[in-house]
Amino acid sequence: MTEADIRSLLAEFGASLFARGFSVGSAGNISVRLEDGGYLITPTNSCLGRLDPARIARLDADFGHIGGDKPSKEVFMHRAFYRARADAGAVVHLHSTMATAIACLAEPDAANPIPPLTPYFVMRVGRRLPLVPYYRPGDPAMEPAIAAAAADARAVLLANHGPVVSGKTLTDAVYAAEELEEAARLALLLRGATPRLLTGAQVDDLLTTFG
Ligand code: 13P
Repeated sequence: MTEADIRSLLAEFGASLFARGFSVGSAGNISVRLEDGGYLITPTNSCLGRLDPARIARLDADFGHIGGDKPSKEVFMHRAFYRARADAGAVVHLHSTMATAIACLAEPDAANPIPPLTPYFVMRVGRRLPLVPYYRPGDPAMEPAIAAAAADARAVLLANHGPVVSGKTLTDAVYAAEELEEAARLALLLRGATPRLLTGAQVDDLLTTFG
């Protein structure tokens, strides 16, 4: 894919996420790792529903701003994932309602605030979804906490803030963010009930079969 193709796809996914209520106002940001080692990231205060592909910020391999509009203030959050996970080709951060509700409910030390209810949650998001303590949006102090959690997990939940999800490609990361939101919706629907969770063996089988 050329950089122009990736810019268009990023705007297309942003519009789709916004149209379906996964993001409102100027909430959320998306980044992609490019073949030359640099990155694209959505501009700060931009609406995911109305991204102009040409104005998406361009960063160099050291996350320095080299083109496009001023980058998201959450560059640190995205950098934490790329540095912690060699397999991360894209990162999606949303304030999607159900996942954020769980991020407000979960105990501060929660290692896994969304249980393995469905195969697609495990296949897309993985075995673990750690909760990272609260930091003010844009606070660079969040970087080490996210990097530590992401070393062992494809996605994290930021307490009282929302999910951050990585994927090998932009498409993978968006699909995983959507799956995470649906899993959070199920977890909330089933709150107070005693749902049948996937067993450890079933989770292992999914991860072995689908990676
Ligand atoms: P930016 O507009 O700087 O990307 O911040 C939005 C956001 O989601 C903060 O967490």
